[in-house]
Amino acid sequence: MKLWLLLICVVVALNPVTDFRVLDMDKALVNSKKISGRTLETYPGKGLLHTKAGSSNATVNLDSLIIPLKTDKYKSIYWVDVSVNQVAATNNQTFPLLLDTGSAIAWIANSSCLSDGCSRAPKFFYSTVTPTEFSLDYSSGKISGLLVDAPKSNITYTINHSLVVNNFTCGLAGSVPSFFSNYNISGILGLSANASLERGTNLLSQLRLEKAVDSAKFAIILGSPDNVNSSFGGLLALGQMADKYATSLAQLPIQSRPVVPNISGYWMVKVTLVSAVSSTGTNSTFNGAVAAVFDTGTTGLALPLADATAMHQMLFGNLFVADNQGNYAFPCNATGSIKFNLDGLILDLSVDLIRADEYTTAGLQGMCSSKMQGLGSTPNWVLGASFLKNYYTVFDVDHQSIGFSPRVSLYSYIANENANSSSISGGGSSSKTSSAVVSSSSSSSQKSSTSTRAAGSASFNSILSPWTLLLFLISII
Ligand SMILES: *[C@@H]1O[C@H](CO)[C@@H](O)[C@H](O)[C@H]1NC(C)=O
Ligand SMILES: *[C@@H]1O[C@H](CO)[C@@H](O)[C@H](O)[C@H]1NC(C)=O
Ligand SMILES: *[C@@H]1O[C@H](CO)[C@@H](O)[C@H](O)[C@H]1NC(C)=O
Ligand SMILES: *[C@@H]1O[C@H](CO)[C@@H](O)[C@H](O)[C@H]1NC(C)=O
Ligand SMILES: *[C@@H]1O[C@H](CO)[C@@H](O)[C@H](O)[C@H]1NC(C)=O
Ligand SMILES: *[C@@H]1O[C@H](CO)[C@@H](O)[C@H](O)[C@H]1NC(C)=O
Ligand SMILES: *[C@@H]1O[C@H](CO)[C@@H](O)[C@H](O)[C@H]1NC(C)=O
Ligand SMILES: *[C@@H]1O[C@H](CO)[C@@H](O)[C@H](O)[C@H]1NC(C)=O
Ligand SMILES: *[C@@H]1O[C@H](CO)[C@@H](O)[C@H](O)[C@H]1NC(C)=O
Ligand SMILES: *[C@@H]1O[C@H](CO)[C@@H](O)[C@H](O)[C@H]1NC(C)=O
Ligand SMILES: *[C@@H]1O[C@H](CO)[C@@H](O)[C@H](O)[C@H]1NC(C)=O
Ligand SMILES: *[C@@H]1O[C@H](CO)[C@@H](O)[C@H](O)[C@H]1NC(C)=O
Repeated sequence: MKLWLLLICVVVALNPVTDFRVLDMDKALVNSKKISGRTLETYPGKGLLHTKAGSSNATVNLDSLIIPLKTDKYKSIYWVDVSVNQVAATNNQTFPLLLDTGSAIAWIANSSCLSDGCSRAPKFFYSTVTPTEFSLDYSSGKISGLLVDAPKSNITYTINHSLVVNNFTCGLAGSVPSFFSNYNISGILGLSANASLERGTNLLSQLRLEKAVDSAKFAIILGSPDNVNSSFGGLLALGQMADKYATSLAQLPIQSRPVVPNISGYWMVKVTLVSAVSSTGTNSTFNGAVAAVFDTGTTGLALPLADATAMHQMLFGNLFVADNQGNYAFPCNATGSIKFNLDGLILDLSVDLIRADEYTTAGLQGMCSSKMQGLGSTPNWVLGASFLKNYYTVFDVDHQSIGFSPRVSLYSYIANENANSSSISGGGSSSKTSSAVVSSSSSSSQKSSTSTRAAGSASFNSILSPWTLLLFLISII
């Protein structure tokens, strides 16, 4: 059986047509020069998550500290609109920037960038900026350009037209890898855990310094209506507001021990144990998981190649297909779940939540693309949007901790009365014209496996795998 499946692999490539992983990630890491110096704090409050009775719905009022996220039609990336305002200018520009907890600084494609990577979204065109050089090695390619000092350049930034940050340092990228051409984004808004990066680049620290937020933390709720036409992708809550809609928060310290050598600033926690229950009910334990990095810039789950294969074996026995690029497919009707013990906090992930769309290729009917992918041999497990979607996640820069709360099954977002709510509506079941109702694709993830297919409601019209992985791991050269 295994052999037959392997033969299929040779004939049918599983690779998504838009596959953004870069195979020389290890090389990029070796080039990195920074050393992590984070100290480990013990933090009270970790334990099991309990959903409070009656907390299954919540109404969130949008204000300047609760900002809607947008997503693409495949629900694979999440971004916010950031405007660059030139003092006394008439040409302020707005840029869609990917919200990325896996990278450290923000950058926007410069008008001088002519590569494919800069072809799909607005580019920065001011000429009066006063920059210094920067260069970033993402796992998927190199970005280089100049860092722009806002005050010296007479510019300010506004997030979603409501929250102003004055003294922020943003990169202007003259060269952007071509994989960006698959997305309609102008750049990346990094939200790393490192509050003390040089050049004042941590957005939350800067917002607090400018008293725009009352603490350096933020919460992310990823999720979008089933309506495939909606670009509403969830919420970003800033400062103390971040805790407001958490029903019960279990906090974990982020770790001092760098899993990726010499790179600091990851939202990373210790993994104590991972076990999986397969379709047939077999419970097996994975040996060797070290730490998990929580990254909104990664669409699915990215594991070291050998670990990804082992996890698929634990979940599906021999009934899965793998290629040698870290892509997997498993029977669409498979059930089962994974249980993560993250330093004492137990989080479940149902197989439903790692199942993407079905292949239509001959020989692969009935097989669905897996959102758990293999990536090189570095030991960290990257838990991306597919995982984070199940929780209300609080990222706390001050306390160097990450908190998980059960996400409520349904949020109603009520926009400001004078705000244009059309761009965030789309749930369709709201009675008020000024609100949008958004249901999670995983309404009871803590109890596992009652959810429907995650993010898979869009219909795809080809054999091209609908599932794409976007990975942003950063190091600063
Ligand atoms: C990490 O930093 C240490 C200490 O500076 C250095 O010896 C080592 O070579 C670095 N490792 C990598 C992979 O850059
Ligand atoms: C943050 O980054 C700076 C420079 O990149 C580094 O010196 C510092 O140790 C880092 N801090 C933490 C807490 O990782
Ligand atoms: C949550 O909202 C749904 C849809 O509006 C409604 O049917 C349900 O009764 C609500 N649940 C609670 C606990 O309020
Ligand atoms: C964010 O912008 C959208 C329109 O782009 C608007 O509808 C929404 O009210 C804004 N949110 C905030 C918090 O200002
Ligand atoms: C990018 O924008 C174009 C034009 O608005 C749209 O047709 C396309 O579907 C978008 N791509 C993605 C991946 O959302
Ligand atoms: C551009 O932004 C600046 C600074 O926020 C503001 O003073 C100016 O009015 C804006 N211009 C336009 C046309 O909105
Ligand atoms: C940005 O583009 C402008 C105009 O094309 C150019 O003059 C400037 O040198 C570019 N800066 C960077 C960092 O690429
Ligand atoms: C910024 O504004 C000040 C005062 O208006 C002006 O003197 C300076 O030249 C401007 N700097 C740039 C880079 O435009
Ligand atoms: C902006 O921040 C830098 C440090 O990141 C600081 O040296 C500078 O004085 C600040 N400028 C203003 C105008 O606040
Ligand atoms: C999405 O938009 C397309 C084109 O405008 C339309 O045909 C389709 O019915 C819409 N789907 C939903 C679920 O609203
Ligand atoms: C597998 O069994 C262990 C030990 O009984 C248990 O702690 C764990 O929760 C089980 N795993 C799953 C995914 O149910
Ligand atoms: C899944 O489907 C296959 C063939 O369509 C069938 O043989 C198998 O029993 C099904 N498994 C489950 C768990 O329903």
